Amino acid sequence: MQRATITGTGSAVPDRVLTNHDLERMVDTSDEWVTTRTGIKERHIAGDGEFTSTFATRAAEGALQMAGVRADELDQIIVATVTPDFPFPATACIVQHNLNATKAAAFDISAACSGFLYGLSLADKAIRCGAASKILVIGAEVLSRIVDWTDRNTCCLFGDGAGAVVVEAREGESGILSTHIHSDGSYWELLCQRGCGNRNPATQKTLDDRLIYISMQGNEVFKLAVRAMEEVAHEALNTNNLTVADIDLFIPHQANRRIIDAIGKRLGLDGDKVYINLERYGNTSGASIPLALDEANRSGRIKKGDLLLFDAFGGGLTWGSVLLRWQS
Ligand SMILES: CC(C)(COP(=O)(O)OP(=O)(O)OC[C@H]1O[C@@H](n2cnc3c(N)ncnc32)[C@H](O)[C@@H]1OP(=O)(O)O)[C@@H](O)C(=O)NCCC(=O)NCCS
Repeated sequence: MQRATITGTGSAVPDRVLTNHDLERMVDTSDEWVTTRTGIKERHIAGDGEFTSTFATRAAEGALQMAGVRADELDQIIVATVTPDFPFPATACIVQHNLNATKAAAFDISAACSGFLYGLSLADKAIRCGAASKILVIGAEVLSRIVDWTDRNTCCLFGDGAGAVVVEAREGESGILSTHIHSDGSYWELLCQRGCGNRNPATQKTLDDRLIYISMQGNEVFKLAVRAMEEVAHEALNTNNLTVADIDLFIPHQANRRIIDAIGKRLGLDGDKVYINLERYGNTSGASIPLALDEANRSGRIKKGDLLLFDAFGGGLTWGSVLLRWQS
């Protein structure tokens, strides 16, 4: 049976690091508050001349090199992002041009922090039905450009970066076992960027009303995230007649240490099976899972045959899970 299998991973972050102590000089906050409420210590911030496509391209190059796949062999490039270089064309098209991936269809997905899992889900379906055999799925964000650096409620949470995977059709039992994706648009206002779409176009008023920035009701998002991420993890395991004890590594979306700890506890997962790197990157939205995956993979944390569970939640609201057996 043909399965969609991850054969290469890559990631890239800006060089510039902004610590909680740096933030103390910008807004009324403290390293102690940010660390205890979120687990985040620092985040990477894009510099002048660096865009979402910059990091997406670098992450993609790493993933292609590991997979031993040439860019011109790719059938599709999917970029999950809520901070595209432009409203259009798609950032995926810029990445296609940068890589010279001449035959790939390239498009973006807007599913916020769940975007990478939405992309993996699409890649899985395209490969299973034979429509494609080599797909690059990237999560990439430059959130620092839509963060209000005067709002202490949100500015300490987010960071920039990208992660990428090459997904290929392979015979056998390894690879993606299942994907589950969900949305509930009735909650769209809990986490959004109100300006710069066509409801609130880029006008002086939009700027003055600070609508160009991320707006979030953190408490509500927190509660909904824990519940939805637990449910969709069970959905993945039940679909495959597996249990929590079968999981070798759980890679959740890296938004808040307390959210991750709460899910781990509800699932009954051992702490050493939960991958966490948000203390160094903050919440990088669509980039967070592939960034963590690449780090875990390159550090030797993942072994052939391991069962991996990815679990995400984000604006939309959107959420999802991907269960896979590692082959590389
Ligand atoms: C944002 C978040 C860290 C806030 O933590 P919290 O424990 O819920 O804190 P609250 O929002 O209840 O705020 C408590 C107080 O801390 C203050 N506060 C907020 N940010 C602060 C900061 N950076 N430094 C110091 N104080 C801060 C608030 O103003 C509030 O003060 P008040 O009681 O005087 O009004 C938390 O809600 C969260 O992580 N939510 C999920 C966000 C998320 O992950 N979103 C992305 C999902 S994909």
